[in-house]
Amino acid sequence: ALRQAVIAGNWKMNKNRAEAAELINALKPIAADKTCGVIICVPYTNLETALELTKGTNIKVGAENCHFKKSGAFTGEISADMLKEMGVEYVIIGHSERRQYFAETDLTVNRRTKAALSAGLKVILCVGEMLAEREDGITEDVVELQTVAAFTGISAEDAKNVIIAYEPVWAIGTGKTATADQAEEVCGFIRKVVANKYGKEIADGMTIQYGGSMNEKNCAELLAKEDIDGGLIGGASLVAEKFGVLLAEA
Ligand code: G3H
Repeated sequence: ALRQAVIAGNWKMNKNRAEAAELINALKPIAADKTCGVIICVPYTNLETALELTKGTNIKVGAENCHFKKSGAFTGEISADMLKEMGVEYVIIGHSERRQYFAETDLTVNRRTKAALSAGLKVILCVGEMLAEREDGITEDVVELQTVAAFTGISAEDAKNVIIAYEPVWAIGTGKTATADQAEEVCGFIRKVVANKYGKEIADGMTIQYGGSMNEKNCAELLAKEDIDGGLIGGASLVAEKFGVLLAEA
């Protein structure tokens, strides 16, 4: 990558409190001497533990979603302000699992992104095509639509607080990674979409990650690409030694 790489773990719905503490304690010395950005996005129930244990370290903490309203009758939801107040720095928005299983749409992704940024959180915005869309040759149309929709009404200043994670849905949790060339092509395309909206400077400064079965074995080739500025890591972020290899390669 041309920019400082950022490796973010997305724990998804994994780890109880004791397991979270064990993983973070193992990660701390591994992460300490690394030059890339390090983020762990953990279930809400582990945020307090993560914030506590990462104090004074180079590991930053994120949540995996937030609601777009400040407060109100939204049973089961967590607002961006609630996360901010705890000391959380990042939040993942628009992960494909939320789009697939929890009725997340481009509109709600946009609303959540706006709410998170106004609360002072940094956003890891996920975009990516489904297998059928890639096969139909409309990958670029899909990620362009998702990206443009997500950034609607967001100022250039706020856009600087967004990391984009390109995650082809067919590569997530499947063991089937996009080739480095495929991933680079789409990450480069997304950077052009950002440049069209915000100009070259902001686009050149934006962190664009790849995600989807990225692991300790295949990361080097992906991370060597110009437009891939790190990764959003699911499975391999759950094991300290594996995540450590990703941090070392980035
Ligand atoms: O957010 C992370 C991605 O969904 C990738 O997950 O590394 O388990 O394929 P994975």
